[in-house]
Amino acid sequence: MAKFKVFVTRRLPIALDRLYQIADVEVWLKRQPPPDDVLLEKIGAIDGLLCLLTDRIDRHLIEAGTSLKVISQMAVGYDNIDISTATARQLPVGHTPDVLTDATADFAWTLLMAAARRVVEADRFVRAGEWQTWEPDLLLGANIAGATLGIVGLGRIGQAVARRAKGFDMRILYADRQRSQIEDSLGAECVTFDRLLQESDFVTIHAPLTEDTDRLFSHSQFQCMKRSAILINTARGQIVDSEALYQALKERQIAAAALDVTDPEPIPPQSLLLTLDNLIITPHIASAGRPTREKMASMAIANLVAGLRGDRLPHCVNP
Ligand code: DGY
Repeated sequence: MAKFKVFVTRRLPIALDRLYQIADVEVWLKRQPPPDDVLLEKIGAIDGLLCLLTDRIDRHLIEAGTSLKVISQMAVGYDNIDISTATARQLPVGHTPDVLTDATADFAWTLLMAAARRVVEADRFVRAGEWQTWEPDLLLGANIAGATLGIVGLGRIGQAVARRAKGFDMRILYADRQRSQIEDSLGAECVTFDRLLQESDFVTIHAPLTEDTDRLFSHSQFQCMKRSAILINTARGQIVDSEALYQALKERQIAAAALDVTDPEPIPPQSLLLTLDNLIITPHIASAGRPTREKMASMAIANLVAGLRGDRLPHCVNP
């Protein structure tokens, strides 16, 4: 029987044996994502595509995929894929929820604590030879215990962040399109977005990128926040207007921010954001625990194999 043809847009952190048994597999080995013209050339000849959040799978690509049976994304977010075109073509799209929830929540907390207590600045300070003595007012930061945490989006990751916040005796507020069934067990209070901005000491974003959340944080939102507030973003860079964030941090409208995601991504080396001391930036690594990434890859392969065989994907995005 002829094997399926599959294109994998980057080297994965696990062996692809399961896939090799049923498919001829081409893996894009370069560090940079395959450009659009390469994807266009490949997609017309394959049955399955395993892609990453850095690959833009737009309408023109999906329509060119005349033999395509499945798109499997190794990520929980899928805003890089035109889901409505895929759905109209009855093309299943897989993603990798759940397995990265704890790693991502842990990392949101890593950033929150690092920003609150100025860990990155402190490290730079020591390496620059500036540590001369213990000083009562050296590198003062924010307290976490007892503070108010505002969670934007109380989905899987937002809930995991809230569970960790209970251990810090925090007051937990959240804003979401719908009220969570488990808000009582999380000790979280549902409030309007504006109230969350006004009352939170830490605001952490755990919403998907959609038309509603695109640049949800801009000038007026930063103006609503406390001057002592710290913003954490481990969701998608486009949820925060970069220019407005730069102004807010520069003018100390808010105290600090910590971003694992930026707009654009990667952040250009000449970005003014990189000149700020009150900003921590990491390169979209919130889910980068080794076991987590291995689970994401094997889940993506399981989705891909199911789609090639014409079975329902274990984790399917479209209905
Ligand atoms: C995702 O899965 O959507 C994250 O952004 C990367 O792990």
